[in-house]
Amino acid sequence: MREEGGGGRARRTLRVLGIETSCDETAAAIVERPAKGKPRILSNILWSQAEAHAPYGGVVPEIAARAHLVHLDGIVKEALKEAGCRFSDLDGVAATAGPGLIGGLIVGAVYGKALALALALPFLAIHHLEGHAMSIRFSLDEGESLAFPHFLALLSGGHSAFLSALSPGRYRLLGQTRDDALGEVFDKTARLLGLPYPGGPAIERLARQGEASFSLPRPFFGEAHGDMSFSGLKSAARRLAEKSKKPLSDRARRDLAASFQQAAAESLAERMAAALRLHERAIAEEERKKKRRARRGEKKLARRIVAAGGVAANLVIRAELEQVSLARGYIFSAPPPALCTDNGAMIALAGAERLARFGGVSLFAPPRARWTLSA
Ligand code: KG4
Ligand code: ZN
Repeated sequence: MREEGGGGRARRTLRVLGIETSCDETAAAIVERPAKGKPRILSNILWSQAEAHAPYGGVVPEIAARAHLVHLDGIVKEALKEAGCRFSDLDGVAATAGPGLIGGLIVGAVYGKALALALALPFLAIHHLEGHAMSIRFSLDEGESLAFPHFLALLSGGHSAFLSALSPGRYRLLGQTRDDALGEVFDKTARLLGLPYPGGPAIERLARQGEASFSLPRPFFGEAHGDMSFSGLKSAARRLAEKSKKPLSDRARRDLAASFQQAAAESLAERMAAALRLHERAIAEEERKKKRRARRGEKKLARRIVAAGGVAANLVIRAELEQVSLARGYIFSAPPPALCTDNGAMIALAGAERLARFGGVSLFAPPRARWTLSA
């Protein structure tokens, strides 16, 4: 295993292969991280298993693990080919080590470790949500940096959480869903409306033709904590659908999709505003403890909100979150929709960042189905 301090690596351009197999996308990408400036995606290959899971209305873990096993080799080869890279051009291999479905995580992490070992390269075990959090770097303007601390809304199929990103790799949890993740609720409501999996994009498409005419709940509205709840929204949509004795008309389906999406977006934005207050308090406390701000003349607070994860691809949700952000004096940013959902580039970038900052290897890091991001 090649060993080098983080400092040496931080001064040169790094090329990292990223492998993502935590759910139903088999993905590999090569990312180039220069010492200064924006990272570049050299290739970003994705094999979506959505079709294999579609008949079940959700991801079947056993099918997912087997499909990763079958496709990963080819996807990695394709990533190298498209990037015009050979194995010898790589500086490290990164793979998602958790959280996620354990079968898929084992396939990706063991594959990455074996490859790193064979190539005598460092292996980076990446937290899937850190990958999502990191993907915003691909879309910052040249010369713009992602300042810390900032506020992070992680919205995926398995997680819905608000965090303070205090410094690279250090997060503090401000609030999270107490029941279903928002993506999961999109998927289940889509099923109710007879839409295919994954439900988020399908609901967004259908909702464009509908009117948000049904009234749906906004759990925890006005409460001071930063937690969320979405299962009531799902159940209310179900009750509305079941109230109708006949199958829903096309118009009712469209309106229900629009109402659900609008309620989800508004509820999320309201909860984000509450979490933002906690964020501001957490940062002030952090700064008081360190008493660094005054001495260094640092800005009070990096007033940036980053949304990431599959649900952040939703344009209505982005618009709602942006509105709250601007009203509170924050810049809102989210990766382009295609980089919000699972991909290998975010894992490669998180790996390159770790490599540049901390160096070292994590060959013995075990894949973990559960793994909290916050310290
Ligand atoms: O981040 P992601 O790709 O995988 C996980 O880490 O879970 O998120 C997948 C989730 C799915 O539940 C999917 O329905 C949802 O993100 N999603 C969306 C949209 N695109 C994907 N939800 C709402 N609107 C979308 N456009
Ligand atoms: Zn994800």
